[in-house]
Amino acid sequence: MNREDFLMYKNNPNLIYLDNGATTFKPKCVIDAILEYYTKYTANSHRGDYDISLKVDELYEDTREVVRKFINAKSSKEIIFTKGTTDSLNIIVFSFMRYYLQKDDEVLITKAEHASNVLPWFELEKEIGIKVKFIPLNENHEVTLDNIKKVVTPRTKVISLAYVTNVIGDIRPIKEISNYAHQNNILVCIDGAQSVPHMKTDVIDDDIDFLAFSGHKMLGPTGIGVLYAKLKYLELFKPLLYGGGMNSRFESTKEIEYKELPLRLEAGTSNIEGVLGLRSAILYLEKIGITKIHEYEQELRAYLIKGLKEIPNITVYNEFSKSGIVVFNINDIFAEDTSRFLNHYHICVRAGNHCTKMVKEEIGVKNTCRVSLYLYNTKEELDKLIEVLKDNKKIFDVIL
Ligand code: ALA
Repeated sequence: MNREDFLMYKNNPNLIYLDNGATTFKPKCVIDAILEYYTKYTANSHRGDYDISLKVDELYEDTREVVRKFINAKSSKEIIFTKGTTDSLNIIVFSFMRYYLQKDDEVLITKAEHASNVLPWFELEKEIGIKVKFIPLNENHEVTLDNIKKVVTPRTKVISLAYVTNVIGDIRPIKEISNYAHQNNILVCIDGAQSVPHMKTDVIDDDIDFLAFSGHKMLGPTGIGVLYAKLKYLELFKPLLYGGGMNSRFESTKEIEYKELPLRLEAGTSNIEGVLGLRSAILYLEKIGITKIHEYEQELRAYLIKGLKEIPNITVYNEFSKSGIVVFNINDIFAEDTSRFLNHYHICVRAGNHCTKMVKEEIGVKNTCRVSLYLYNTKEELDKLIEVLKDNKKIFDVIL
């Protein structure tokens, strides 16, 4: 849908881009929003008293409100602009969890998490002696509440999960998990990188305590992301960055006053073009309808799975997932070779471990090819992918 809005197709008419989990194309309105900022009202934000700077302030703060509505947060003060999901998760861990958690407190993750939801916790384990434990997954590599209950102890303080994982692509039952977690005084931290761009996010309904996501995976610019946290926790965040824009006063006597949220956590000149581009991306997604996008991706996914299953020497590792992520291999062929083979036909998929290096212990293979779909993909593109994969006997003639 809406392919005509994406200049990448105009400039690359033969391209079949199926790597939307890595990043997405940008519609013209996002590019225009950035261009307008640089050609009509270039100014810093929250610092000037002149018209073009006030215009930037207005759009910047309106973006916070646009994001708030998009994820149904209570207050726009709960929305902090960051560099992306990785940045947001690191801020959650090192600005808040480092002080909230104590030695031997337990944090539950899974082996299917992306590096950004693993390594900060591993570092905190080294730093203050928390224990990072793994929730066992079921036979379809999914998290279930029963499996969570098996590993929860009185020391469990946080459950940190991707809403949708970037390899298995399963959609986790976060509402059910939050409900149980909160009955047991456990905080819920969500990596929304692969979910927020594709399905309705409602932090109130799901009772999410912390949420991280990126702009570039939802049609926005790179280098911009969002950290959401419930206000009562965000108030306790100790800034990782100190400097301009986040203080209201400091004296030679060392008296300091920091600003209120959200600016207290946004030191330095912000990624203004990123914020304004993100605003445009969210308004665009809302105009189409995020639920419509989700349903369309599910339709494409079912179509792709059906096609892949008709090819005898292909293994699909996540047949039962419900997102637009499909991982597979041509049997006995290295995933990167398959990706290079597909590239020959201008088909872009991601191959490798996808920054999710422990998932091999769950699915039994280290490297896979990943198709990750978005609104502008079509069944015709998937037909071409399947046609090329059916002809996989000639892979080494093509790539060598
Ligand atoms: N995290 C992104 C992916 O899974 C880069 O491709």
